Amino acid sequence: MATDDAMPARPMPRFPDGFLWGVSTSAHQIEGAAGLRGPSVWDAFTAGPGRVKDGSTADVACDHYHRYREDVALLADLGVDAYRFSVSWPRVDSPGGLDFYDRLVDEVCAAGVRPVPTLFHWDLPAGLDWLERDTAARFAEYVSVVAGRLGDRVGKWITLNEPAEHTLLGHALGVHAPGRKLLFDALPAAHHQLLAHGLAVRALRAAGATDVGIANSHGPTWPASGDPADREAAEFYDLLLNRMFADPVLTGRYPEGVGELMPGSPGEVAADLEIIGEPLDWYGVNYYAPTRVGAPQGAEIEFGGVTLPAELPFSVREIEGRPLTDFGWPVVPEGLTELLTGFRDRYGDRLPPVVITENGCSYEGLDDRDRIAYLDGHVRALHRAMEAGVDVRGYFVWSLLDNFEWAEGYARRFGLVHVDFTTLERTPKASYGWFRDLVRHGR
Ligand code: FCB
Repeated sequence: MATDDAMPARPMPRFPDGFLWGVSTSAHQIEGAAGLRGPSVWDAFTAGPGRVKDGSTADVACDHYHRYREDVALLADLGVDAYRFSVSWPRVDSPGGLDFYDRLVDEVCAAGVRPVPTLFHWDLPAGLDWLERDTAARFAEYVSVVAGRLGDRVGKWITLNEPAEHTLLGHALGVHAPGRKLLFDALPAAHHQLLAHGLAVRALRAAGATDVGIANSHGPTWPASGDPADREAAEFYDLLLNRMFADPVLTGRYPEGVGELMPGSPGEVAADLEIIGEPLDWYGVNYYAPTRVGAPQGAEIEFGGVTLPAELPFSVREIEGRPLTDFGWPVVPEGLTELLTGFRDRYGDRLPPVVITENGCSYEGLDDRDRIAYLDGHVRALHRAMEAGVDVRGYFVWSLLDNFEWAEGYARRFGLVHVDFTTLERTPKASYGWFRDLVRHGR
């Protein structure tokens, strides 16, 4: 627990008019009502022994599907401008599934909040596979259906959530669904998701959308030391987790040497990159912490709940001297300033306005001063990036509610609102009141 003098005392700097304050969630993590949708790769994965640490499933989760009115009322009281949620593709594929999002969007709009749907947040319909190119085309068809139904009320769209994490954790390391341990053979899953993103941008625009972005996860990569071997390993990590997903989207090119590793002939990959590089209206960044990276150490490494195999050409090291969240992630607000100014320097005019689509931390308890300190530090760090000239238009806290935190189950609590997973009762935490004040003041 932070002490009182760790609490924010300085006045918060002012944000420009029209700056979008919001909160984020995702379908699989909150909706429940698993019987009212088709299965996703996450249902199959979760059913396997030892996959989810507390042995839980997302079958009920926060039961948001049935309690969305209560949750939208929480959004309204919070006073946020926008709500980022995700649309579950397997639900949309099921009879009546799209009706749920119709009702949800109506409710969100009626509360005076802008709905910001993400079209894919990792819950791929069972039977589909990102290693298959065809999944990208199927995604675009699904996107057209959703846009056709919700496009009259939804202005701002997000194609994908964190294709980097979905590739790394789901296809390379096997700690998330679909549970594949392909290491570098997972790269086609990255390419096909990026292609799906580009096709979705086109499908959304064809349906009349004019405010389209993606939510990519990024963080600065810090070399473990000045040693050339550590620097080289850190550069490689940066390429893999940051540049491989930002470069093609923002510049229409893969970093040098990466395009050759992707499926298809050079001509085919180049044609795909034309689609992937479709200019965006804005760019979403999910930020949690930097990563400190060094040369491989020839042994497995435990990192943030994940075991990294010895054969990777890098090793992840601890960032020392920082408070840690319950997840063990270091709290480094200035990493956000560094990340955003670095992006501006690297991509220049090709970087459209940025929105922070996720930022948050896992802590227990209702009197969550550590969360307030975390968010306060990061909002200030964001403001510093804006003062340094980065065009940032919004900030979304992950998350509105405690929820099903993937392979960690319900053990990690990221919500501004506490959820009792036995009674499903919602209780706003101290951070909820803090964020409500910030939003009011920010305007
Ligand atoms: C991000 C995910 C989100 C949530 C947070 C803690 O990587 O997009 O669903 O799990 O981490």
